[in-house]
Amino acid sequence: MQANRGEWSSKIGFILAASGSAIGLGNIWRFPYIVGQNGGAAFVVVYLLIVVIIGLPYMLGELALGRTSQKNPVGAIDAITPGSSWKGVGYLGVITGLGILSFYSVIAGWTVGYIFKMLSGHPGSFGSFISDPLQVIILYAFFIVITATIVHGGVSGGIERWSKILMPVLFVLMVGLIIYANSLPGSGKGLEFYLMPDFSKIDGRVILAALGQAFFSLSLGMGLMITYGSYVTKSDDLFSSAGYIVFFDSLIAIMAGLIIFPALFASGLNPEEGAKLVFVVFPELFMKMPAGTIVGAIFFLLLSVAALTSTISLLEVPVAFMVDEKKVPRKKIVWIIAFATFLLGLPSALSQGASEFFTNFAFLPQRLADPDFLSQMSFVFGDFSLAFGALLLSIYIGWIWGAKNAALELAEGSRFFKGFFTVWIFMMRYFIPIVIFIILLNLFGIFD
Ligand code: TRP
Repeated sequence: MQANRGEWSSKIGFILAASGSAIGLGNIWRFPYIVGQNGGAAFVVVYLLIVVIIGLPYMLGELALGRTSQKNPVGAIDAITPGSSWKGVGYLGVITGLGILSFYSVIAGWTVGYIFKMLSGHPGSFGSFISDPLQVIILYAFFIVITATIVHGGVSGGIERWSKILMPVLFVLMVGLIIYANSLPGSGKGLEFYLMPDFSKIDGRVILAALGQAFFSLSLGMGLMITYGSYVTKSDDLFSSAGYIVFFDSLIAIMAGLIIFPALFASGLNPEEGAKLVFVVFPELFMKMPAGTIVGAIFFLLLSVAALTSTISLLEVPVAFMVDEKKVPRKKIVWIIAFATFLLGLPSALSQGASEFFTNFAFLPQRLADPDFLSQMSFVFGDFSLAFGALLLSIYIGWIWGAKNAALELAEGSRFFKGFFTVWIFMMRYFIPIVIFIILLNLFGIFD
């Protein structure tokens, strides 16, 4: 271990911090609305399949690269192939992290706002809330400041400690909400929509959406797992750790759906509502419940915390890059990057009705993303960049570094990986890059 980088204090600390990165708005806000827009249960099946056959093996590749090099994404590639232009993939990851952090923190700010809205007893209209520029910008700024404060505290003191305490609380609250939502009259239809697959609804667009969601939700494709893997010791088992991370992440997403869809059908709302879904359905649900204002406030508080463990990880990647490569002190660079990100996210914050200019800012074709700046950012960084980054990284790991070297790294400290050694090499070299490549082509309408 090099001096001054930091390291997880235990295996479970690493699993919880990486799960904290993975579990966030992607599971509770994004997953249900993507399910709603892509036909329900059939999407869920495709999603879970992709998580297991692509997400998990790919995650192992990133973790192996991180632990071998003990570096951020740029430094990791430079350590293995000094001077090569593959380093560019690392830079892409750093930039993607900043891009995601910018719009993600805007939405995280809304969740903080909803803590207070629930407490007030009158959640009011979501549309007028997000179009109020001052409110939204203050909440957004607040969220970035909290994120930076924790990242400032370093790896095991800041990131790890928080994840350990708060994630289990969120889990317990969600179990309670599943029971409540499914006891509502009319909720059965929602369960059916969510769990009875109609496979005729699957097409190329649905598969792409599932892949994009899997990478986003598992925090893959931008070198986050390289960075978190760099803080893992050689004696830890990366294989079983990745298994836990993938399991927890999928579990929370599935649980979010088990609350949302029954509640939504019980209220007679439309599952294709899109990005508003969580902010509309959850408050409705809470307002019907006994002690709903307090349960609602706790829910949005925990959702904010889940988002926080994700924004921490997003900020950690550019910070680790500057600390390792440019030798700047962590405590200073954190605030500089946080401020730059804040500026980058302002258009997203204003794009939900506050500014007409940013609300109709389409630079992408309409079939790819909604016209507001936030949705455009979400597509560019949260979908395209992650898939593209994952394609390049899987080629790098599979062919340039070499899947065999990566597999040897994974075998170290792992009892069970040996049984998957050859399969994994095949997946990393052929299956994963080819599938991602096809899906990217499809994105550009090559197969239309
Ligand atoms: N996975 C997080 C979520 O589901 C978001 C996130 C955090 C992320 N770090 C990431 C996405 C790195 C991609 C890459 O909310």
